[in-house]
Amino acid sequence: MSPRKTAREAPPLRAAVGAWEEAPIAPAGVDTEKPSAARVYDWYLGGTHHWAVDREFGRRVEKLWPLIRPISRQNRAFMNRVVSAAMDAGIRQFVDLGSGVPTAGNVHEIVRERLPAGERASVVYVDYEPVAAAHSRLILEREGASSWAGLVERDIRRPEEIFTDDLTRELIDWSRPVCLLMITVMHFIGPSDEPDELMATYRSRLAPGSWLALTHGTCRDDAPPDRAAEVRRFIEAYQDTSNPAWLRSAEELLPWFGGWPLLPPGMTSLPDWRPETPPTPIDTETRPFAWCAVARRPGL
Ligand SMILES: C[S@@+](CC[C@H](N)C(=O)[O-])C[C@H]1O[C@@H](n2cnc3c(N)ncnc32)[C@H](O)[C@@H]1O
Repeated sequence: MSPRKTAREAPPLRAAVGAWEEAPIAPAGVDTEKPSAARVYDWYLGGTHHWAVDREFGRRVEKLWPLIRPISRQNRAFMNRVVSAAMDAGIRQFVDLGSGVPTAGNVHEIVRERLPAGERASVVYVDYEPVAAAHSRLILEREGASSWAGLVERDIRRPEEIFTDDLTRELIDWSRPVCLLMITVMHFIGPSDEPDELMATYRSRLAPGSWLALTHGTCRDDAPPDRAAEVRRFIEAYQDTSNPAWLRSAEELLPWFGGWPLLPPGMTSLPDWRPETPPTPIDTETRPFAWCAVARRPGL
């Protein structure tokens, strides 16, 4: 892992060739000739931080699993609704584990939009991919958000390093409620990384009134066989890479909330958690492949 740099130590900018829509500004030293998983994901989301090589790679992955793009967008929409609801509930601190490139409606954007005048909020993004970290710092710096939002370049499997990181200590007061987001990241944590213990460590850090939000890939029994085969092929293709992924059932995920009450409507499919728009045909296709839920630590 490369050494952490705070947003204030962000690398100098260099303008990439072409118009902003065609080629965004890249942080110095970041390779835009090779695809980056974080930028490919940004392309699925409709963000602006991807290059031709990322889009080409993304299209190849889409051939393997055509639902990846709608599910990515539903994940992002769920996260947006959770952050909005947490803001409405008075939470002002957000920690986003496995944050990727923070474009296309990310946490700090929602927080900034909904923050009442005169109030303060803070956001810590956590990602271990140097490319995601570099783009994140650049975006936060460019948007003038570095004083209240930052990127901690750490591995979520080592929570103590995140808790004791200088930037986390500067921005997050764990004695007050925090909204901890784990969106499309825990499926990268395999059994050998002891996810149950990891979740317990994160829960133990959260003060009463905190929220814990999770989305996770699955393959439910009601999935059409051809779609189920696609997702299983997709997961298998990643097993021998540096980013193997795991699908989990609701029964495996529910204990991760440690018995804290789930906010209504409980554990459900992405389009069904407090939807703000009418259902669409793609919702029927994606429902069997992801779970989401938000728990609130009781006691406040
Ligand atoms: C699929 S993206 C999700 C991005 C964002 N949470 C969202 O839903 O839009 C997963 C991100 O998690 C990061 N990630 C995976 N494993 C991680 C780990 N052990 N520690 C930190 N970040 C991790 C990857 O680098 C990637 O940027």
